[in-house]
Amino acid sequence: MDATSRIIVALDFDDRRAADDLVARLGEECRFYKVGLELLTAAGPGLIESLVGQGKDVFLDLKLFEIPNSVAGAVRVAGSLGVSMVTVHAMGGTGIVSAAVEAARDFPGLRVLALTVVTSMTAADLADVGVTGAASTEDQVVRLARLARGAGCHGVIASPREAGRLRGALGPDPLIVTPGVTLPGESSGGHARSGTPRAAVAAGASHVVVGRTVTRSDDPAAAFRLVRADLER
Ligand code: C5P
Repeated sequence: MDATSRIIVALDFDDRRAADDLVARLGEECRFYKVGLELLTAAGPGLIESLVGQGKDVFLDLKLFEIPNSVAGAVRVAGSLGVSMVTVHAMGGTGIVSAAVEAARDFPGLRVLALTVVTSMTAADLADVGVTGAASTEDQVVRLARLARGAGCHGVIASPREAGRLRGALGPDPLIVTPGVTLPGESSGGHARSGTPRAAVAAGASHVVVGRTVTRSDDPAAAFRLVRADLER
């Protein structure tokens, strides 16, 4: 896979015009965009259709955690929009994850990725929701990733710090998509578990998600090229 194909730019905006502007400024440099709940709620599915129409890959970060019937419905709509990746919470258990995977079968280009423990959660947060005992946060991440793979997920979302352990646990095939990356020398942007794009891929990530490093830069295309150069280093 070439470096450009590994880079997913997160369109974390609250209006469509800002997203369209950024996509236009990046032009041919960037081929893969992540649309999250904020932009989807603001801009609606027309934005997804526009991106797909421009030949871009879209990671629709729906973070599904719902009854299986509703999860399947949302995945089918994502598939018919031409989306390439969609997310489901592995905390929902095998029934919810399997519903997403089954619904995606009609769309050969659609990959279902599982979220494990959201990176902002601490051991204390896990204890609050009843995840206690010997399991560390990392053990819980691996446990949920295995559950997701068992249910047929194509891959997982993982912080740079978790990517290596998950690659070891899951083997060579699954996608490992890693947000929370920053360029060398850049401040961590509030990420508890940040790392560089190159470090994430060296640890086993198949893709990296880059947000503010590119989207808030005065020259987004130059920032994107720095991310690519870091991967190619
Ligand atoms: O921090 P940045 O702007 O690069 O974040 C880009 C995306 O990565 C966000 O859309 C967010 O969903 C995701 N992210 C994450 N976990 C983190 C940091 C960011 O899931 N620790």
